[in-house]
Amino acid sequence: MAKLTIADLAPAQLRGRRALVRVDFNVPLDGARVTDDTRITAALPTLDRLVRGGARVVLLSHLGRPKGGPDPAYSLAPVAARLEELASFPVGFLGETDTDAAVAATTALAPGSVLLLENTRFLPGEEKNDAALSQRLARLGDLYVDDAFGSAHRAHASTEGVARVLKPAVAGLLMQKELDYLGDALDRPKRPFVAILGGSKISGKIDVIEALLPKVDALLVGGAMACTFYRAMGLETGKSLVEPDRVEMAAALIERAGTVLILPHDATVAPSIDEAARAHAVHKDGIPAGEAMLDIGPRTAESYARAIASARTVIWNGPMGVFEKPPLDAGTIAVARAMAAATKKGTITIVGGGDSAAAVAQAGLEADMSHVSTGGGASLEFLEGKALPGVAILDDRA
Ligand code: 3PG
Repeated sequence: MAKLTIADLAPAQLRGRRALVRVDFNVPLDGARVTDDTRITAALPTLDRLVRGGARVVLLSHLGRPKGGPDPAYSLAPVAARLEELASFPVGFLGETDTDAAVAATTALAPGSVLLLENTRFLPGEEKNDAALSQRLARLGDLYVDDAFGSAHRAHASTEGVARVLKPAVAGLLMQKELDYLGDALDRPKRPFVAILGGSKISGKIDVIEALLPKVDALLVGGAMACTFYRAMGLETGKSLVEPDRVEMAAALIERAGTVLILPHDATVAPSIDEAARAHAVHKDGIPAGEAMLDIGPRTAESYARAIASARTVIWNGPMGVFEKPPLDAGTIAVARAMAAATKKGTITIVGGGDSAAAVAQAGLEADMSHVSTGGGASLEFLEGKALPGVAILDDRA
């Protein structure tokens, strides 16, 4: 069911009203410096629209995983400073969240200005989705806007509980964009529809493989998880990361998937990640006993690039190898470049968040994809076909 968004609201529902906006400003920090502001930039269209509509904008976000209460290392103050630099509107910060002082600050806010409150995970009830906390958070706004796609798989007080209490509860523009790209790809893909799944562990990807297999024309596997499939095929996997308890499942998947599931024909191997300089390519049945598969091989990279070139919809989640460590980034870069080239020819190219988004950024190709998701775990759960609690609770479009 489609959700109401801020674009559906009448001007009077925004002008002078306090919009309580849940954003996902869970960004990497180096001390007080934001090292990747993608998630902040991604929220700007929603914030700009609310500001232009004369709303008084109150922002909630979590940052990191602080344990047991306030911890200055996880304060959102540096994030507010970065938002102020990027934004065309004034941004304030208050080091409190659900207090009377915070409520007073929201009512004192001038229309068209923005106030970021302190990390929601400093509040003991946040991750428990505590009903009393949700009630207190609801006092901070006159309407609720969820733009935190990256946190939509969490049923927390600021992502789900508050939306039960504070109405209307609508999607922001980033949330809507994420749902449109991912939802359209799954529900009505232009074909051929190709999925590329990588990463180290098959265990974290089983559900998404199961969910995508009936939908895609080809599912290309990369990353160390290919080795659990290799083991299931009886191949030598050397020192590669294999999940022995998933081998049987991998065998069943190969059997069931037929020609849709495609495994790498060759592998780039080395004795260890630290000895990446000794990397060399071998056929998939030639992995030496003393070496580990650390990337897809060059023949595989070429054939995956060809599959991407012939697709009209491509979804990618998970790197092909240890992309942080050249030359073990070759397979991942080849996939990113092939997707960038496909985008130019009109193919819909979607990158799931997390590591694959980081790899695309490292290759400088973010702008060359149709959509790079701001959600890691959230996009994976979406692709698995699970309902995201932060989305499900928003008001349905009539
Ligand atoms: C993310 O970075 O995936 C989201 O911000 C959610 O963070 P979490 O995994 O700590 O809940």
